[in-house]
Order: sequence, then C-alpha cells, then structure tokens
Amino acid sequence: MATPERWSVLVTGATGRIGFPIARALARDHDVFGLARCSGPGDEARLRAAGIVPIVGDVAEFDPRSIADVGGRPVTHVFHAAARIGAEARTDWQRTFEVNAQATGRLIAGCARSSGSAFGGFVFCSSGSTYEYQGRRPLREDDPPGVHLGVYSLSKIAGEAVARFSAADHGVPLTVIRIFSTYGPLGGAPADRLDRILADKEVVLHPDRPNNYNPIYEDDYVRLGIRALERAARPAVTVNWAGSETVSAEEYCQFLASLVGREARFRYDDAAPWPLWPDVTRMHDVLGRTAVPWQEGMRRMVQARHPDALVR
Ligand SMILES: NC(=O)c1ccc[n+]([C@@H]2O[C@H](COP(=O)([O-])OP(=O)(O)OC[C@H]3O[C@@H](n4cnc5c(N)ncnc54)[C@H](OP(=O)(O)O)[C@@H]3O)[C@@H](O)[C@H]2O)c1
Repeated sequence: MATPERWSVLVTGATGRIGFPIARALARDHDVFGLARCSGPGDEARLRAAGIVPIVGDVAEFDPRSIADVGGRPVTHVFHAAARIGAEARTDWQRTFEVNAQATGRLIAGCARSSGSAFGGFVFCSSGSTYEYQGRRPLREDDPPGVHLGVYSLSKIAGEAVARFSAADHGVPLTVIRIFSTYGPLGGAPADRLDRILADKEVVLHPDRPNNYNPIYEDDYVRLGIRALERAARPAVTVNWAGSETVSAEEYCQFLASLVGREARFRYDDAAPWPLWPDVTRMHDVLGRTAVPWQEGMRRMVQARHPDALVR
C-alpha cells in the first residue's frame, strides 16, 4: 500500500510529555488530531497553537470515525500514547485495564473499519516496566514479562497482547514501542531527580548499583516516534525505545548536581524500583540511533526547566 504523503494522524495522549512534542512535530507536515481529556488548564489552546486539532474525550469511549465530525479525512496513522499512569493507574484497576489495554484493541479495530487499506501504521506505547528484572544486564525484547510498577505494568503487558491480537485480526501494521526513561523540557525521571537534588533531598535508588539507564532526550524521541509510525508492520514489530547510550543514574545525577552547584546524595533502598536498562540492538536495526549525547541532553533539560540554577 502506498502511504499518502500527507497523513491524517491521531495522537492519543496528545497533551502529554511524549504525545505533545510528537504531535507538534507531525503537525508541521500532516493533519494531526490530538485526543486527551484536556484535564490541564490551557490544554486545548496549547494543542491549537501547535497546529493540532484538539479532540477532548476519553480514549476508552473514543470512536475514530468521529474524526470526520471535526473535518478530518479517515485516519492513516495513530500514535497511541494515552494511558492511566502513576497514582491514577492504582486508583481503579479495572478502569486502568479498560483504558490501557481494551481501548487499544477497539482503537485498532475502529481504524481498520473506518480507514481500510488507507491505514498506514499504528504505534502502541508500551513500557520498559513490562519486563521481569534480569539483574545487571540489558533487557532484550524476548525477555519475560514482569511487574515493575504494579497494576500499571500489568495493564501494559495486557495492552501489548490486546494490540497484537487486534492488529493481526484486522491486518493493521503495528509497532509496539517499549519506552524506557524519557527526559527533556517537559520532564521525566532525570528531571524528578534533579528536583530532589535542588531541594537537597536524597535520590533513592535500587541497591544493584550502578543503576543503569539509557535515557532518551525529547529531540530523539520525537524522531524515533515518527520513525516507529513509518516502520509499523505485519506481523507487529516490538522494540525497546530508549537512548543509544547507557549512563547510570548515579553518574547523571552527579553531572546534574555539578551543573547546578549542588551535591547529589544517594540512598539505596530494596523497595526502590529496579533500574530499567534496555538492550538497544534491535532499536538500532529497526529505528536507528539517537543523536543527542546524554550530557548535552541533561544540560538542555536544566536550561529549559531551571535556567536560573545553572552555574556552569
Ligand atoms: N515518559 C516515559 O518515560 C514513559 C515510560 C514508559 C512508558 N510510557 C508510556 O508512554 C505514554 C505517554 O506517557 P507520558 O510520559 O507522555 O505520560 P503523560 O505525560 O502523563 O501523558 C499522558 C497523556 O494521556 C492522556 N490521558 C490519560 N488518560 C486518558 C484517557 N483516559 N483518555 C484520553 N487521554 C488520556 C493525558 O491527558 P489527560 O489527563 O488530560 O487526559 C496525557 O495527554 C503512556 O502510554 C505511558 O505509559 C512513558
């Protein structure tokens, strides 16, 4: 099937840390519809200002045919980032499964029905927190599932299975991206740790030190997110989605502390989540490498979030 040059893209979770910059970048070349409940002040206006058509609603009740109601062509691509996360994921586990898992299957089926052979690709945002801990080695796509963050992890494991089933059933090209640590002007785990350093609080880490991660900066996750839409395939592709470089939380926190003239203090706790360290071999084959060196990304994050705190 030839992919039309100008896509009609639905980004769910379009106001979020990942969805918003991806939708904003796509809107430079394509028609982009951004779905979210728009629970934050000014969310709709922020979408409009970025050239994204806002669709205010809950993904669990969303029918892709309604894109026509806001003047859109049938959807050609979906970047599905909406999810119940953090405290919200823990409040009502059945609703969390409804939103994070079942809704994905209905969305894929709805796109297949409304767009038929014009549909080009669907990306499901899964998580690195779907893996069982393997100790101090990088996690590969064929490693077994495990529960890193309770109901949230379980719902993402279920979401992947639902997405694969629905995509195969409806002949929809799919990429499942297992997202590891993202960061940038809109935040992420490194930003949370920076906030603790600035507040002179300990950074709490898992005892298996060093706590290795491959953080991925915003510019790179925008590029690799769009690449994941282009690479969607039948049968589905499943790929870790992370930075190309490994750096420990200990090392990046010390670097962040040096940028803001503070000290990073660590406390090791068995109850802390284990480090999510991805193997990015398949990602390099399927999506390519990231380009922003971690020190550069961390500096840009401090500059964007705490410009007055930078001392060097
Ligand atoms: N950031 C990471 O490092 C990371 C790591 C692993 C996986 N992920 C996955 O990546 C995706 C995006 O994460 P993020 O970091 O961008 O999260 P985020 O900043 O919390 O954004 C979540 C987005 O989903 C929307 N949303 C939540 N529930 C919804 C619902 N029921 N219906 C419609 N929209 C809903 C939110 O807006 P409203 O609340 O206004 O609806 C927001 O736009 C998620 O699927 C997450 O599980 C992220």
